[in-house]
Amino acid sequence: MSDPGIAEKLVAVLQRPDGDTALRPVHSIGISATGSFEPSPIARHYCVADHFSAEKTDVIARFSNGSGCAAVHDGWSDVRGMAVRFHLGDGTDTDLIAMTLPEFFAPTPETFLDFAEAAKPRMYEAESPWRKICNYLQLILPKRDPYPGETISPDDGAIEFADQNAYSQLGIMQAAQIGAPTSYVRAAYHAVHTFVVTGEDNTRRWVRFSWQPIAGVLRTDPNNAPVDDYLRAELKDRLAKEPARFSLMMMIGEVGDDFNNSSRPWPPHRKRIMMGTLTLDTVPEDQIADCEKLSFNPGLLTNGIEASDDPVLRVRIDSYRISSEWRGGSLCPFSES
Ligand code: HEM
Repeated sequence: MSDPGIAEKLVAVLQRPDGDTALRPVHSIGISATGSFEPSPIARHYCVADHFSAEKTDVIARFSNGSGCAAVHDGWSDVRGMAVRFHLGDGTDTDLIAMTLPEFFAPTPETFLDFAEAAKPRMYEAESPWRKICNYLQLILPKRDPYPGETISPDDGAIEFADQNAYSQLGIMQAAQIGAPTSYVRAAYHAVHTFVVTGEDNTRRWVRFSWQPIAGVLRTDPNNAPVDDYLRAELKDRLAKEPARFSLMMMIGEVGDDFNNSSRPWPPHRKRIMMGTLTLDTVPEDQIADCEKLSFNPGLLTNGIEASDDPVLRVRIDSYRISSEWRGGSLCPFSES
């Protein structure tokens, strides 16, 4: 049985010494944008949720850098986040939280706690060229060199953890090589967990969602890394000229796929349904109220979409509520007051 206090322990372990406690402990730096979501003609057949049958649904999205560091280092390699809130026709909301990693690091809250403790950022220990060559010969991946000014390594502890824990290897190796996008809207984002959707004919399907950018995926050139703070300015400039769009894709799981473990991929040839198009056209003026104070929650679902039994998805519901309370975020949808 899960430790009842684990949701809080997870939030505590994620607090960063160089973070600002008024910011999120992870995904601290971000920017929001508003727009609308239009479902594809077939979406309602697969899911009866309001935003898949309404003509158009208003949305607010928050893009973020995964790090808990309060300083902005957009050009550094990092997972990015995209949290989307759909304002449904009946006045309620539903959230879809996604990140640029297709798989998570851990199958359970307990293993994620172990990971988060082991992977706490630590001071860089640069590797000499000789060490890199010896590591290559032993089939050990060489460490990447720190960026100019980078003193804390986000990857070292995680990579050591991956050596000991096979389940985390896919997520950690992908994270260590993820790089930086040229724009928040030129990355693909994955909700990673399995959700259960109910269709018009009451068929229930176990699915995974991801956002694909219509402009295409484009990373920066690591040999010519851009200045530290460019992602927020780029989004503002871009949306002032033209909207940015994403397709919402839904992958349908089949018997034998792991529905309760987001560290395990599904076979790539699973059926994918195009569920709709997200159009973002405005960056709200008030980025404190409409971005920093917002509280998203992966458990904020609606009729037609349920959480699977994935224990990590379940624990996130409490962890995000606790984190929002600790940082003085807007009322979390799960707060009792
Ligand atoms: C046990 C696993 C996890 C824990 C404990 C955890 C914890 C947290 C916490 C505490 C926050 C800050 C929430 C707030 O203060 O509002 C956060 C934000 C975030 N997390 Fe996680 N997380 C977990 C897994 C994931 C996964 C699997 C994803 C990918 C879908 C993810 C994506 C994000 C994103 C995108 C944000 C920023 C949301 C925003 O813009 O408000 N997290 N996480």
